[in-house]
Amino acid sequence: MAKVSIIGAGQTGATTALWLAQRELADLVLVDIVDGMPQGKSLDMTEAMPVVGSDVKIRGSNSYQETSNSDIVVITAGVARKPGMSRDDLMATNGGIIRAAVSESLKVSPEAIFIILTNPLDAMSYLAMKVSGLPRERVIGQAGILDSARMRAFVAMELGVSVQNIHCYVLGGHGDNMVPLTRHSNVAGVPLTDILLPERLDAIVERTRKGGGEIVSLLKTGSAYYAPGAALAQMVEAILLDRHLIVPASAYLEGEYGQSGIFFGVPVQLGRGGLERIIEYVLTDEERQALERSASHVRETIAGLDG
Ligand code: NAI
Ligand code: 2OP
Repeated sequence: MAKVSIIGAGQTGATTALWLAQRELADLVLVDIVDGMPQGKSLDMTEAMPVVGSDVKIRGSNSYQETSNSDIVVITAGVARKPGMSRDDLMATNGGIIRAAVSESLKVSPEAIFIILTNPLDAMSYLAMKVSGLPRERVIGQAGILDSARMRAFVAMELGVSVQNIHCYVLGGHGDNMVPLTRHSNVAGVPLTDILLPERLDAIVERTRKGGGEIVSLLKTGSAYYAPGAALAQMVEAILLDRHLIVPASAYLEGEYGQSGIFFGVPVQLGRGGLERIIEYVLTDEERQALERSASHVRETIAGLDG
């Protein structure tokens, strides 16, 4: 059985573990600094497995030793936004946490592929790659599956069509100027631009961009975790099952989309080696300019990392 470790057993970490445990893909280890919490959550999940019929082992720990020889390390450790905060406000605190989580995990799992969730996502993924010294194939950030799933959900609500027929592609940085590509997004092959009135489409684009903030304002004590956990589980599954699945995710760019030296949301292909390929869409000038604006913001955030 493959082994997946999740660093940070809070809302997103524990939810990811639950989505994964039900898929029976890998044994799971949850690590957190809070004494007893990852152990308690793993035991609770273990006790759910007879009900769902999954034979995975789930362990909780406060030590990285337990994570040794993981195939994949998912990092969700860090603080989440409170109402009124941007993802960038989390930078200083979460930077220190990412440094520790990546270097400690890598010591005991030298072959692991890292998937980062902690915000600000594109900057934290960049930091993870720098701290680890790993090639870009082995460090990937989760943002685009979530942002695109939000857009898909809003389109489904608008049109009353199955989510399975709705394909949306949100690229760019994981911030409020992310770029929902309406021309590439479609319902059973028909572009959204041909189905929805411009004002309805604009409203969906705007709601997608602010989707994370909408949940933060409702919850008041944290940010989203069901959909982020589902997105992480899909990435883990694509890698472990060598699916060659194309999804939007944050990847280190080396000239693709005219950008270099940043993590940025683009369509990627995921398989057993991690990031297999970056797919480049043909874009209009307007789409390209929107991506440039988002890239400038990511670049500024990355420049704010100390060291
Ligand atoms: P949470 O507060 O529920 O969980 C975070 C956990 O990390 C806590 O249990 C905390 O004890 C633990 N932690 C803190 N320092 C640690 C360390 N050094 N080692 C191990 N564990 C440590 O927060 P939640 O909701 O799980 O969010 C986690 C992060 O993910 C936040 O930064 C949030 O903004 C981000 N996020 C990103 C998303 C994305 O799409 N990229 C979506 C949702 C959340
Ligand atoms: C989200 O988009 C907080 O980044 C997180 O829900």
